[in-house]
Amino acid sequence: MILDVIKKRRSVRTYDSKPIENEKITALLQAAMLAPTARNKQEWRFMVVTNKDKLKAISELNPNAKMSAEAALSIIVMGDTTVSSTEYIFTDCGAAIQNMLLQAIAMDIGSCWCAIGPDEKRIKVYRELYDIPEHLLPVAAVQFGYLKEPTNEVDRFDLDKVTFIR
Ligand SMILES: Cc1cc2nc3c(=O)[nH]c(=O)nc-3n(C[C@H](O)[C@H](O)[C@H](O)COP(=O)(O)O)c2cc1C
Repeated sequence: MILDVIKKRRSVRTYDSKPIENEKITALLQAAMLAPTARNKQEWRFMVVTNKDKLKAISELNPNAKMSAEAALSIIVMGDTTVSSTEYIFTDCGAAIQNMLLQAIAMDIGSCWCAIGPDEKRIKVYRELYDIPEHLLPVAAVQFGYLKEPTNEVDRFDLDKVTFIR
């Protein structure tokens, strides 16, 4: 069941140093681009970063993304503002990101979703470091790396958060 994969996904912030194979990076991008988008705009754009200097630089510039220094890969997920509106960019990119996180853990790759937008300071940091043009809105940087150890499964099922209309 897909639920078995979902249960294994955790935010992982420390990684094995092994690089991630190109076909696995492709699988992550395939998963991302199979997510639904409002009006099927598919306005997401992806920047695939494996350059160690650029990964390390981000860990110094964004205190919430310190794990970048250890990551084998960071995928910057952006939305094209000439194709869709900001509100949809955030929801559509979110769906694409979640697909990547699940595909990653199914391949024993840990991941951590780090927000960029809507925080203007973070947007500026990523724009400058990765040379992101104005019409692309950076939504998140997702770090990936092989697991050092299996993830802990948690149970968050809480019926108090659910209303049934029967
Ligand atoms: C929109 C969003 C932004 C996040 N930003 C960060 C971040 O900047 N740094 C970080 O370490 N984790 C970040 N996280 C991961 C959350 O901290 C994590 O998902 C949450 O603590 C639940 O833990 P879990 O992912 O292991 O279930 C973010 C998650 C989301 C959905």
